[in-house]
Amino acid sequence: MPGFEWLGEEETRAVAEVMQRGVLFRYEFAEQRQGVYRVREFEEAFARYTGARFACAVSSGSAAVKVALAALGVGYGDEVIVPAFTFVATWEAVLDTGAKPVFCEIDQSLCLDPADLAARITGKTACILPVHMMGAGARIEVVKVVADQHGLPLMEDTAQAAGGFQGGRHLGTFGALGSFSFDAVKTLTCGEGGMVVTNDEALYQNASEYQDHGHDHKPVGRGNEGRRFLGFNYRMMELQGALGLVQLGKLPEMVATQRRNKAALKEALKRVPGISFRDLIDASGDSATFLAWFMETPEQARKFARLLADHGAPAISWGVNTWHAYHNWEHLQAGATLARGGWPFARPEGRASYPAEALPRTRDLLSRCLSWQIMLGWDEERLENMTEAINRSIAAM
Ligand SMILES: Cc1ncc(COP(=O)(O)O)c(C=O)c1O
Repeated sequence: MPGFEWLGEEETRAVAEVMQRGVLFRYEFAEQRQGVYRVREFEEAFARYTGARFACAVSSGSAAVKVALAALGVGYGDEVIVPAFTFVATWEAVLDTGAKPVFCEIDQSLCLDPADLAARITGKTACILPVHMMGAGARIEVVKVVADQHGLPLMEDTAQAAGGFQGGRHLGTFGALGSFSFDAVKTLTCGEGGMVVTNDEALYQNASEYQDHGHDHKPVGRGNEGRRFLGFNYRMMELQGALGLVQLGKLPEMVATQRRNKAALKEALKRVPGISFRDLIDASGDSATFLAWFMETPEQARKFARLLADHGAPAISWGVNTWHAYHNWEHLQAGATLARGGWPFARPEGRASYPAEALPRTRDLLSRCLSWQIMLGWDEERLENMTEAINRSIAAM
């Protein structure tokens, strides 16, 4: 998923042009900016690309989750259902709103398991937050049916899936809101950055005002704007907007390249005895940032991972990954926080606890799951070397 591989002349020119104009702030500076608003243009282009009515740029994908939840009114006293396999930012953002994350099992799609969802819903559930992991979609249509049955909004964390579609519709546009990340390792990168998309004008207004200290953005001059509610600073700057516009233009070609590279390796892996691949709900919309597969047992996964590494094609073992797996988040389980009073774990109604053994199916799936991140720069020779590594690892199994 690395757009950084394709940073080139176009990005350099776009950044230099912002620097020459000397306006880094997305708002104000009307005279100096000569009508150029790069963040606003990026928002409009991203909305067009995803098919969403509105897009609101923010400073990171983590900020995007927080801003989207804030736009929905999520806060203390609420629960938000999140999958047990995601990046820490998803549930950090929930805790940051004051709400409590409630973790849900994943299935072989590596995303939230709709079959486990209904059991996690309580009278306090304020939002369901599926994550489109590793470039491809959750069973979002099924999740949406469950959400609708309970009258709950969906917020899709699409940080890892810009360029990913399901049934021709961009991921992140099925629910009330979707959030995206453009950090340094994402397919579309601004170094840091994020986006919130929605079709709902009122939610867009909430997000747009919340990410800028609550300013209502009425054309009365910055010092004179009103504020309907409390906000914070999650703004994107013009340099990121300029980068985002160029990278968005490259996104379809990046996805096509990832898909070609992924297909070549998947073909070679099919010969591994007992292998099963991650379920893709719509393979034709896969943004192909990762190739993920399951071995039959954790022992086989460990052995195959070791062999691949020995042969120069190291894979990620999700069972031991400490950034994405519920059972490995030691600070969550310990309730470790800098806050003297223990917030957000210590709460008036009792301590929120997250025991490592609570989600056995996710743990089992991840203990057998290996994957490669698909790189844009892999040439024929590199793909042949990886195929050779697969074949030699199979022979040694
Ligand atoms: C699922 C998920 N959500 C949120 C984020 C946070 O994005 P950022 O790094 O831009 O803050 C990430 C980043 O990797 C992510 O993978």
